[in-house]
Amino acid sequence: MSKPKHEYTVAICPGSFDPVTFGHLDIISRAADIFDKVIVTVATNSSKQPLFTVDERKQLLADVTSRWPNVVIDSFSGLLINYAAARGANVIVKGLRAVSDFEYELQMASANHKLNEKIETFFMMTNPKFSYLSSSIVKEIARYNGPIADLVPDAVAEALLRKFSAPST
Ligand code: PNS
Repeated sequence: MSKPKHEYTVAICPGSFDPVTFGHLDIISRAADIFDKVIVTVATNSSKQPLFTVDERKQLLADVTSRWPNVVIDSFSGLLINYAAARGANVIVKGLRAVSDFEYELQMASANHKLNEKIETFFMMTNPKFSYLSSSIVKEIARYNGPIADLVPDAVAEALLRKFSAPST
């Protein structure tokens, strides 16, 4: 007899989101169309030195995902797979921009599978128009006053402008 299907699907979209870009939003919006609930969660223990605080990143995410009622914003520390299990998630969703993303993501998905095989990792190909886009690229362009209107939502562009025009301490 086949196994019963999940009646209510919960997906986790994890990341640094420093800051959220149109590439992230592409994946989040498509996940929101497929899964009942999508938890977009900011990693607080990343080894990267962030530009935005966790609260700032969460606020920007909340602003730019408010049109999707089934998307909620959160943050986590420690192992993603433990967080996903604690939130009752069935799936971790990751976007792939290029083959270069694949090797690292495959390794993480395999490690997560080893840690908890009940939670699947789903990969989505990022819309090709965002294949070059990353938070780092956006910060680099914004730092030198380049145009970022096509790369991030207005609220994020304004937040970047404030960060880079603030006097450094
Ligand atoms: O946006 P990023 O920086 O590519 O996101 C990476 C992130 C935060 C999803 C990844 O580093 C992660 O899951 N970190 C939590 C620690 C963990 O569970 N690592 C994978 C198992 S070894």
